[in-house]
Amino acid sequence: MAKAAVLASGNGSNFQAIAEAVLPAGHEISVMICDRKEAGCYARAEKLGVPRRHISYKDRTSREAEEEILGELASGEVRIVFLAGFMRILTPFFLDSFPGEVINIHPSLLPRYPGAHGIRDSFLSGDRELGITIHKVDPGIDTGPVIRQASFTRRGDESLEDIEARIHQLEHYWYPRVALELLDGLDRNGPRP
Ligand code: GRF
Repeated sequence: MAKAAVLASGNGSNFQAIAEAVLPAGHEISVMICDRKEAGCYARAEKLGVPRRHISYKDRTSREAEEEILGELASGEVRIVFLAGFMRILTPFFLDSFPGEVINIHPSLLPRYPGAHGIRDSFLSGDRELGITIHKVDPGIDTGPVIRQASFTRRGDESLEDIEARIHQLEHYWYPRVALELLDGLDRNGPRP
């Protein structure tokens, strides 16, 4: 059984999709960390029975918030972190300090449309092929090595809301599967030396 954590800031639908896939498979989500207590992910954690922790970035440096996050991850023996709509940039300090892997999901076919508006930018583009990217996190913004991409062909008459729904559908299909694969892999490979 491998231990994960999820970092989220918003609705938490991807967090829920991951939890519903990995918990029944015997893995543990030690903690769901959220920087906004009023966010949907915070309420979802309670319903899912996942320990939750509010870590604020307000009136403090990112470094201070990251040190607190690292403390939580260490005490939960977390080996992999899944970012699920976490709206903060993790600094090189965090990435160098956390001994496991950090994974992110982005709602566009990277390297196209990185940043906070992946869905809107994808929608406004003339691209016929739109999709999602699950990738390892590096110090850049949405630049780390790709683990999986999935796409669909837009029909042409779809609204922003339609496109958003199709992107979320792909996310909810693929993120739990990738999370489960990575956690199963950690189990197979045993503890890190
Ligand atoms: C998703 O579209 C994800 O790709 C992006 O933020 C959104 C989070 O949605 N990084 P939710 O909070 O998981 O519902």
